[in-house]
Amino acid sequence: MRLKKPAAHLLRVCTGLGCWQNGAREVLEAARAELGVAPGQAASNGQVALEETPCGFLCGMAPAVELDGQWRGQVTPEMVRRIVQEATRP
Ligand code: FES
Repeated sequence: MRLKKPAAHLLRVCTGLGCWQNGAREVLEAARAELGVAPGQAASNGQVALEETPCGFLCGMAPAVELDGQWRGQVTPEMVRRIVQEATRP
């Protein structure tokens, strides 16, 4: 049961072993810094929630992130910053 309105977008960073070994820590940190929230929280404007997720079976393209159900691979910290900015663009 949710007690708060869900965020408009959900960004999930894979922290499975394959992604973790290929830069997911830096990607997660970049997403965290860009949104100003920890995993499990939503940005104060309610636009994007950040979550960690186990393996998304895209290990060959690690590190991987998912935005609103769409997976992207070989994500860099700069790419995840852009993904967040595009998701929060009015
Ligand atoms: S560990 Fe990230 S997709 Fe498999």
